[in-house]
Amino acid sequence: MSILKKVEQFREEEERLRWEGTFADYLELLKEKPWIAQTAHSRVYNMIKDAGVEEVNGKKEYSFFKDQLYGVEESLEKLVEEYFHSAAKRLDVRKRILLLMGPVSGGKSTLVTMLKRGLEQYSKTDKGAVFAIKGCPMHEDPLHLIPTHLRKDFQEEYGIKIEGNLSPLNMMRVEEEYGGRIEDVIVERIFFSEDKRTGIGTFSPSDPKSQDIADLTGSIDFSTIAEYGSESDPRAYRFDGELNKANRGMMEFQEMLKCDEKFLWHLLSLTQEGNFKAGRFALISADELIVAHTNESEYKSFISNKKNEALHSRIIVMKVPYNLKVSEEERIYKKMIQDSDLAHVHIAPHALKVAAIFTILTRLKEPTKQGVDLLKKMRLYDGESVEGFNSQDLEELKQEDPDEGMSGIDPRYVINRISSAIIRKQLTSINALDVLRSIKEGLSEHASISKEDRERYMDFIAIARKEYDAIAKKEVQKAFVYSYDESAKTLMDNYLDNVEAYCNKNKLRDPLTGEEMTPDEKLMRSIEEQIGISENAKKAFREEILIRISAYARKGKKFDYNSHERLREAIQKKLFADLKDIVKITTSTKTPDESQLKKVNEVIARLIDEHGYNSVSANELLRYVGSLLNR
Ligand SMILES: Nc1ncnc2c1ncn2[C@@H]1O[C@H](COP(=O)(O)OP(=O)(O)OP(=O)(O)O)[C@@H](O)[C@H]1O
Ligand SMILES: [Mg+2]
Repeated sequence: MSILKKVEQFREEEERLRWEGTFADYLELLKEKPWIAQTAHSRVYNMIKDAGVEEVNGKKEYSFFKDQLYGVEESLEKLVEEYFHSAAKRLDVRKRILLLMGPVSGGKSTLVTMLKRGLEQYSKTDKGAVFAIKGCPMHEDPLHLIPTHLRKDFQEEYGIKIEGNLSPLNMMRVEEEYGGRIEDVIVERIFFSEDKRTGIGTFSPSDPKSQDIADLTGSIDFSTIAEYGSESDPRAYRFDGELNKANRGMMEFQEMLKCDEKFLWHLLSLTQEGNFKAGRFALISADELIVAHTNESEYKSFISNKKNEALHSRIIVMKVPYNLKVSEEERIYKKMIQDSDLAHVHIAPHALKVAAIFTILTRLKEPTKQGVDLLKKMRLYDGESVEGFNSQDLEELKQEDPDEGMSGIDPRYVINRISSAIIRKQLTSINALDVLRSIKEGLSEHASISKEDRERYMDFIAIARKEYDAIAKKEVQKAFVYSYDESAKTLMDNYLDNVEAYCNKNKLRDPLTGEEMTPDEKLMRSIEEQIGISENAKKAFREEILIRISAYARKGKKFDYNSHERLREAIQKKLFADLKDIVKITTSTKTPDESQLKKVNEVIARLIDEHGYNSVSANELLRYVGSLLNR
């Protein structure tokens, strides 16, 4: 479809959604669709809920955030349930400013932007529809038209509780334009739009001294005072502050804690009482979600100031920590690269994973649990199974330190280092080693890293490098075998047949000749030795495997290559050990003979076709692994 066609469709859609009628019509509509009178907080909550909620391992995951925020499901659940859900039920938290606290580049702005864009979309749906008094700069809730003394009756008839008073401007308009007949007041459907300043606002403080409260609550329009005769005529006032414009929706308050405290009081009275003072008018009611964000150190200095105590109790703080899963971190980088001008660069497989391993290590706290080191913790967090640990252990690890994820290396740093490596070297292709090197070089220039942290981080670079070595070796060796999984399976089946015969003191039958054979001790040992199982321990190991197999059989589960971690490792190592010499020779000879050259080309082709390399990165990988194997 051409873009013009789409523009036209969009316009038609807007036209279709438009609704205008009298307040009397609106009340009719309300009977049919009572949800259109919901509060701003309730709308935000329903928006998130309506996008879909999934229960994964007893934890809620919201589709609403899925496209943009990765690996922070637990904090999102807390935010949605403890703040939005309670606020939607008109509980007290609604009256507090939501303050997102988290480390730099931890996704706070992303989260707020998603809520804003989400509301814009949601207000176009039936469930998220919003109606307002037409011509009101604050898109006032039409129900405010119902006089206070009739609200109890209204609630009985409609089951809806009205909060907030009619604003001075609309009070005057009802008299002047509608002769006091509220039923005739024109109501329209509105659509949230940050660009059009409807229901979505952003406030960002400037210099505290010159900060003008008018930016928040609007100001007198001096050019019209003469016309209306008085400053207290609401028509002479421009209700165009961010708080006015964000009414019914949400306002983002950037750098809130950098604001002057006098300034903050205004805001707090709004959230607390649901109204604010502007000009010489009675209090103006507003219904909006106010979200601010800050980092931990700013927050700490804010609460350590006694003067801020009262403010503090009017704020609800939600932590937005870093993601702590390697695979999710990799996705974050991919997304950021997609959105940047690096999208055309070839990034070799595993380069981002290795960077993510480093990053996550910097964010994790040293575990105190017996038998767990940082690397094991990292794997458990990422959902890998680690022998000897279960989901209970994982939960315990997570509980160990509530501050975990609030510090460490941020994703933007990694992306900056990748891009600086690319630009400096004018690369069109970048691999894991380039990335690690660039991250390492950057650490010495990074101003906010302490000396101790820098030393720790250097160790993590070394750990990430080791992880990469293992991955790289495995990758090349896999590419050398025509069908890796097949070979692994065959070898394992063979091993298991022998183990079974050994334990049951049976003989095996040769599949070709039908001859009876004793179990192949040499084969079994050659596999077991790979993971350091001694002659004395072999019997126990074999019996344990058989027990595992029968346990699987009992549950009707298939025992396969991935069912026993140590066995899998042994099989892998055995396969690779058999291959090692050929890999070593072919990858490191300077002058390969014809058959070696053929093999190398085959392997490179496989790396490119099946594993996502290009010819540069595939050659680099082979050379690197060659050097590793020759050490
Ligand atoms: N958990 C995450 N999932 C997906 N992307 C993330 C996540 N955390 C950070 N990012 C990405 O990192 C970048 C920086 O995030 P963002 O600007 O939202 O952070 P912030 O917390 O507002 O940072 P600052 O404190 O610097 O304002 C964005 O591109 C964002 O998409
Ligand atoms: Mg931000």
